[in-house]
Amino acid sequence: MFYTRVLRRALFRLGGGDPEIAHERTLRALTLLSRHPRLISALHRHFGAPAPRTVFGIHFPNRVGLAAGMDKDGTALPAWPALGFGFVEVGTVTRHAQPGNPRPRVFRLVDSEAIINRMGFNNAGADALAARLHALGPLRFPLGISIGKSRATPVDEAVEDYLASFRTLRPYADYFAINISSPNTPGLRTLQDRAALDALLGALRAEATARLLVKIAPDLTDHAIADLLDVCAAHNVDGVIATNTTLSRDGLHPADAPLAPEPGGLSGHPLTTRARDVVSFVAKETSGTLPIIGVGGIHTPDDALRMFDAGASLIQLYTGLIYHGPGLIRRINRAVAMLA
Ligand code: FNR
Repeated sequence: MFYTRVLRRALFRLGGGDPEIAHERTLRALTLLSRHPRLISALHRHFGAPAPRTVFGIHFPNRVGLAAGMDKDGTALPAWPALGFGFVEVGTVTRHAQPGNPRPRVFRLVDSEAIINRMGFNNAGADALAARLHALGPLRFPLGISIGKSRATPVDEAVEDYLASFRTLRPYADYFAINISSPNTPGLRTLQDRAALDALLGALRAEATARLLVKIAPDLTDHAIADLLDVCAAHNVDGVIATNTTLSRDGLHPADAPLAPEPGGLSGHPLTTRARDVVSFVAKETSGTLPIIGVGGIHTPDDALRMFDAGASLIQLYTGLIYHGPGLIRRINRAVAMLA
């Protein structure tokens, strides 16, 4: 396969093997590509895969989306559907622009097909994203916007911080992903607790109608997830995104053991089963009534189909794209279309 044999090798060598440099160059290339509608159309013909589905009242061209974190500031937006994605989640963005944690802050665990990251919400801020989306005009695919807490804002002032991003970006989002599950912003995950989540969702809901989804951590106990779902139900949340990265280091290939102590969230293949189990638990707890976006360790069409079987209405990928390229999106879309 061209991607794994040629392109991935080249990408993994860029910047002396620094994954963040490979990411920046890829994003820059896709940003340039986004300015060439003919190339975009040609790619779309190759990778595009219509398999429409309406979920929480939104029409999705297909059910495979780009997960948050890949295109935080939305610089390469037109390129993603051309690679086969049916929707895109930008962000996580914060009210204030911020640089994130010091580098290095991303690590490839190649034998495990995994990544550890502690980016810490590096992003240009909600105003910059709003300006970019304004300039782009209407998009031809659903856009999710993930919002999180600025690092400089204390946790007990988080509600105002989320609200500010929400107000700025409301005109552009088909849905908001409320990120309370990143392990890389101190205190953020405490917003998953009942009282804190109740205050946050109550404030967002009081603002106006917008589709709200809550993104959860794979490290919560069943009891904590059940609690969280109660709060979501009380505020008519439109769906749950399961899951974010994990603090666990289970399932790593022994060759990657030296990188295991790196602080940060683990994504990719070692997360496959846990993310699917969380999706399955949420589906059972809500009797299949709450739409779920399943994300975590989807690296094959079979992983995708099993995520749908577990109860996901839509799925997203990040790490699988790094290891398998856009051909994976096409293969997943084909597998899904065969079942439809
Ligand atoms: C992420 N992820 C993430 N999630 C989120 O809600 N906001 C974010 O800003 C980021 N940033 C981010 C950066 C990097 C480098 C990675 C690898 C991941 C988490 C991502 O959206 C997804 O939930 C997990 O990575 C699990 O899916 P995969 O990667 O196993 O397909």
